[in-house]
Amino acid sequence: MAVRRLHHVQPESFAFSDETLAFAEACVKKYPEGRQASAVIPLLWQVQLQEGWVSEPAIRAIADYLAMPYIRVLEVATFYTMFQLAPVGRKAHIQVCGTTPCMLRGSEDLLAVCKRRISPHAFELSADGDFSWEEVECLGACVNAPMIQIVKDTYEDLTPESFEAILDTIAAGDMPTPGPQNGRHFSAAAGGATTLTDPDLYRRRPAPAQDDHHDDVMVAEAPPASTQTPTDPATPEARAQNAGRPGGEERTEEEIARTAGADLASGDETVPDEFKPALMSAPREGTGDDLKLIWGVGPKLETLLHELGVYHFDQIAGWNEMNLRWIDQHLGAFRGRAVRDKWIEQAGRLSGGWRPTDKDGEKRPEERHGRTERFRPDDDLKRGR
Ligand code: FES
Repeated sequence: MAVRRLHHVQPESFAFSDETLAFAEACVKKYPEGRQASAVIPLLWQVQLQEGWVSEPAIRAIADYLAMPYIRVLEVATFYTMFQLAPVGRKAHIQVCGTTPCMLRGSEDLLAVCKRRISPHAFELSADGDFSWEEVECLGACVNAPMIQIVKDTYEDLTPESFEAILDTIAAGDMPTPGPQNGRHFSAAAGGATTLTDPDLYRRRPAPAQDDHHDDVMVAEAPPASTQTPTDPATPEARAQNAGRPGGEERTEEEIARTAGADLASGDETVPDEFKPALMSAPREGTGDDLKLIWGVGPKLETLLHELGVYHFDQIAGWNEMNLRWIDQHLGAFRGRAVRDKWIEQAGRLSGGWRPTDKDGEKRPEERHGRTERFRPDDDLKRGR
């Protein structure tokens, strides 16, 4: 680190401005009696804001104010590079980061601008006294390299041209807006997002469904059984109900959504009872399918589905999208799972006789291990089935 000395030319005296004095009084009150020396760094900074730099008389004034030995304040002021020990430009002192990321991104071009427009040497005032500059180490905005700092504001993603525009603005008496100067949002990817680009990811979802392995600790909110209208899905009435119109004619999802006034894109619609699928009061022939074979369905959710009147794969396979959403919004704490896990698609395959297998595709895990491995929609897609 370069030796930091007081400037060879010092003012005769220093006096706190009213603002600095008010700041000092408030700052000292933050510390216990006898510990006012703790305010030395904030006071040095405030004095620098007042004067632009920290002079020797100012150091003495701070030491007197805080009842500290002069040498203690001098040690602090000369140790931290944030304190300027020589007069700086009236309008701006430019700190150019020259550390590796900024250097690789063009900080040397910014330094060349400083040398040409301000002064060939750091810490020298420009001819009009308005500007000065220095090269500093990393200022913590590497992702927006190259960058400069003026007092506490950083100007990032600079080019020589945008840097010169900043100097022009300051010279004209204004302060430019800090932050990236190339239009990007903070440190967002400069070329736009490359991952997580699916807009569906940003839809507001219903209450998150927890992992099915946690089913046993979840509390599902099932509607009272009395509100259900059990109907055998095999009947024409049931198919018509599933289709969402009296004649049983299938409607497009858009048509259904339009009719319902539902916003399918938002995912937070309330699906009216018009779309309630056909439900059953009991499983056919007294035995339902093992709904737990559906990926994401555990014992709790299976019980909840039974309470709703869902017992068979072909029941679910016969639903349309709005039926599925109607069921989904009645899954209480599990809401969101039916749509997320594509139950219709899963149930369609299960009702056709397909059963989940392990990686070799030969045996059902429950046959080999006496337990059930759930269907993962994506697993089979990966296996090309
Ligand atoms: S290297 Fe320049 S801000 Fe970090």
